[in-house]
Amino acid sequence: MEAYFLEWLNLFFRWFHVIAGVAWIGASFYFVWLDNSLENPPQWKKDKGIGGDLWAIHGGGFYEVAKYKLGPEAMPKNLHWFKWEAYTTWLTGMVMLWIIYYVGAESFLIDNSKLELSQWEAIGLGMGFIAIGFAVYEILVKTPLRHKDGAFGLVLFAFLAFSAWVADQLFSDRGAYIHVGALIGSIMAGNVFFGIMPSQRALVEAVQRGEAPDPKYGAFAKLRSTHNNYLTLPLIFIMISNHYPMTYSHEYGWAVLAAIIFITGFARHFFNLRHRGEFKPVILVIAAVMLVALAGVMAHTQKVVAPSENATVISDEQAMNIMAARCATCHAAQPTQPGFEAAGAPAGVELESIDTVVAMKQKLIEVTQTGYMPLGNMTQMTDEERQQIIDWMASK
Ligand code: HEC
Repeated sequence: MEAYFLEWLNLFFRWFHVIAGVAWIGASFYFVWLDNSLENPPQWKKDKGIGGDLWAIHGGGFYEVAKYKLGPEAMPKNLHWFKWEAYTTWLTGMVMLWIIYYVGAESFLIDNSKLELSQWEAIGLGMGFIAIGFAVYEILVKTPLRHKDGAFGLVLFAFLAFSAWVADQLFSDRGAYIHVGALIGSIMAGNVFFGIMPSQRALVEAVQRGEAPDPKYGAFAKLRSTHNNYLTLPLIFIMISNHYPMTYSHEYGWAVLAAIIFITGFARHFFNLRHRGEFKPVILVIAAVMLVALAGVMAHTQKVVAPSENATVISDEQAMNIMAARCATCHAAQPTQPGFEAAGAPAGVELESIDTVVAMKQKLIEVTQTGYMPLGNMTQMTDEERQQIIDWMASK
């Protein structure tokens, strides 16, 4: 019952999280596009302090957008802020982190073969990881390095790659990915809360006092929102990565993540340049080539257990015992693995009878060979059992 209830909470918050995230990232993309597409306004607009304008058509009408160089002469009655999208995405993400990875720490966060932890130790490390990573970014963004775009980008990338490595030492493979995601999400929400919002408030107060706002506020807010913009693609990858165990369960899962952060951040650069009128498709080509190269390198470095020659094959009964202990805790009509009880057999695969196991042995060999299954090796299948099961299936 409790697992069933948690499953609904999980569904609700995931749904909410995705909707809020779409609104946040959609607005972020839209405003970057807007900024980069602004044109030189006519003189009468310039006289009012407008620095750029733009026309668009969407839905049923024409839109005329004007951006002030500094601020309007007087405050408008209604001013729309964009902050709740960010806060809601972060809050719902944190709730999910708790429901899935902290309540279910034994199945999803802790990997005893890497580090033996109690549930509370794992939670403490998880929160500590996010808090420290966040603090490092906040310090970095206040150093003069922030004015050097390229250098800052490289330092930030190196820091995220290092964080991915640290997370990989502490947590299960999936837990590591999601913590890097939570860290990036926290940096982004923090950029809104600690950087962009205070700058915007200062801008608004200056306009209310009838003074010209200090341009440094606008510039700092813009810088932080540009960082957010580069982080969106890596973050969205991490959000969907738990459907792709070939990434996180790779032997060097942290390096795969670092490579994807680099490639997707780099691809985002193409769009940011294009919005500024610089069309450099070579960036996208390079990003695509890097992605294909990554896929190739990953395929060659994946641990694959091959059927051994002249192996003494275990009996059917022994094989089914291994399957029961390592696979059927999840792959049963009524799973018993904590966190999986409510959802039915994963991917519709039930591995309780020898007939079904033999019937789908090709697929089973594949997922067992690559280490994709048991998922995150939550049932702690040993290498010996893996070899035995593969040999047994190959003999059928
Ligand atoms: C902790 C729970 C768990 C355990 C243990 C587990 N699996 Fe899975 N399995 C899953 C989940 C969840 C999916 C769906 C994966 C997805 O959608 O990414 C899955 C999917 C599969 C699939 C379908 C893959 C596909 O591409 O459609 C096969 C086959 C499979 N598992 C076989 C096994 C075998 C064999 C074992 C034991 C060696 C095993 N599983 C152990 C949770 C588990």
